[in-house]
Amino acid sequence: MAKFVSIFTMRNLLVLSLALNLSLIMRVTFEGGKQGFFSVEEKHRGPSMAENKEEAHATQRALLSLSSSSGQDGVEKVINLDHGDPTMYEKYWMKMGERTTIVIPGWQSMSYFSDVKNLCWFLEPELAKQVFRLHKAVGNAVTEGRHIVVGTGSSQLFLAALFALSPKDGSQPMSVVSAAPYYSSYPSMTNCLKSGLYNWAGDARSFSKDGPYIEVVTSPNNPDGFVRHSTVNRTGGILVHDLAYYWPQYTPISSPADHDLTLFTVSKATGHAGTRIGWALVKDAEVAKKMTKFIELNTIGVSRDSQLRAAKILEVMTDTSQNLGSSELGESFFRISYHLMAERWELLRAAVNNGRMFSLPDFAPGFCHFLQQETQPQPAFAWLKCEDDAVEDCESFLKGHKILTRGGRHFGVGPKYVRISMVDRDINFSLFLKRLSTIQS
Ligand SMILES: Cc1ncc(COP(=O)(O)O)c(C=O)c1O
Ligand SMILES: *[C@@H]1O[C@H](CO)[C@@H](O)[C@H](O)[C@H]1NC(C)=O
Ligand SMILES: *[C@@H]1O[C@H](CO)[C@@H](O)[C@H](O)[C@H]1NC(C)=O
Ligand SMILES: *[C@@H]1O[C@H](CO)[C@@H](O)[C@H](O)[C@H]1NC(C)=O
Repeated sequence: MAKFVSIFTMRNLLVLSLALNLSLIMRVTFEGGKQGFFSVEEKHRGPSMAENKEEAHATQRALLSLSSSSGQDGVEKVINLDHGDPTMYEKYWMKMGERTTIVIPGWQSMSYFSDVKNLCWFLEPELAKQVFRLHKAVGNAVTEGRHIVVGTGSSQLFLAALFALSPKDGSQPMSVVSAAPYYSSYPSMTNCLKSGLYNWAGDARSFSKDGPYIEVVTSPNNPDGFVRHSTVNRTGGILVHDLAYYWPQYTPISSPADHDLTLFTVSKATGHAGTRIGWALVKDAEVAKKMTKFIELNTIGVSRDSQLRAAKILEVMTDTSQNLGSSELGESFFRISYHLMAERWELLRAAVNNGRMFSLPDFAPGFCHFLQQETQPQPAFAWLKCEDDAVEDCESFLKGHKILTRGGRHFGVGPKYVRISMVDRDINFSLFLKRLSTIQS
């Protein structure tokens, strides 16, 4: 890492581009050597020349598209970093090849039912097993005394939780709050059906209504990446912890989360957003039953095929993670993705610090009990602020430069901020960096 850091704290991105070009030439020259996708790992393991071929090609394509299709100023192609689509991880899973392949014969998983003895009767036992095993290995959540409820993404579980936690005989809808800036989907998901059970009541910090409420605590937070705790702290409050990003590549794992109701998702953990699998760890059996009922009414369960696929992916993740420190170091999903995120944040900070137009949040490092070292928070999103007085609306400003982002208003704050995905493919991320430096120059 030391070498890395010193390379990317350089102020001038032109030099960076030159360095990229040089390393590209090196890589292409030495591509006859070692193959693999794990560029960062290989920096640790062996001579830096043994860089990987695939990444060299990706970088090459990025540079070529900068100089050809996008013209001299590099502002022709639209870069869409509005969604947090975690395509960055494709490279890793490609490398894992057959290890995560599963075969499902035509007669398998046909019944609606997975495990009739379980409170969550559509939960695949193999998924439950792998979820427990992964949390144990990573140390990010207490699983003892918890019921697992599986959902079609954690999005469905969020709705299931609102349903389960709202009194059915309440005189008025239960208020749902979260501290701004909050994940932009909470308000729309909460209010889309104009439920009589619950409604969105906005920023938790300014919430003053009496009576019961649900506070969603997202930690690390989407969009800004900070570790969070509840803010309202009144009796009658019920907490839902959305820990979609509580994984070692994004934030130090300080201790196992030990809450009443916690949501996780494979989308952000492994990158398999399209598999649509999330899980809730629920202390109270009655709440878990009501959540299960909601999913029964909504979709009569959760795709068994998807659950089996997710189980396999989690199994391989845990297997590679448990080999930390052994000869399989180079395969550890979390270690590799941690370094890839570190690299991206280093590059982004260098680009932002190269001028005065933008700023990023500053984070305090912490000890990660999983990686056994001090690590920096390096969120899946960059919460960028337009510092220039002439720029009122950062989203429109960047859109003018063909960079699509999500503006602060979606998250309950002002338009000076935008959220930018940090987990897209290399090519798009490089283009974004390049364009950011062009804007500042
Ligand atoms: C904080 C948070 N919760 C939940 C989700 C939804 O995840 P899923 O794909 O599991 O529905 C996201 C996705 O961006 C998220 O950022
Ligand atoms: C890097 O390579 C690209 C394409 O080959 C070229 O357009 C660009 O000018 C090079 N950058 C530097 C700093 O040499
Ligand atoms: C990212 O890059 C791929 C090419 O690898 C391209 O097809 C896609 O449109 C890009 N996505 C965005 C969001 O720019
Ligand atoms: C609410 O409680 C948490 C700890 O449970 C604490 O960190 C936070 O500061 C409190 N918030 C307020 C506004 O008092």
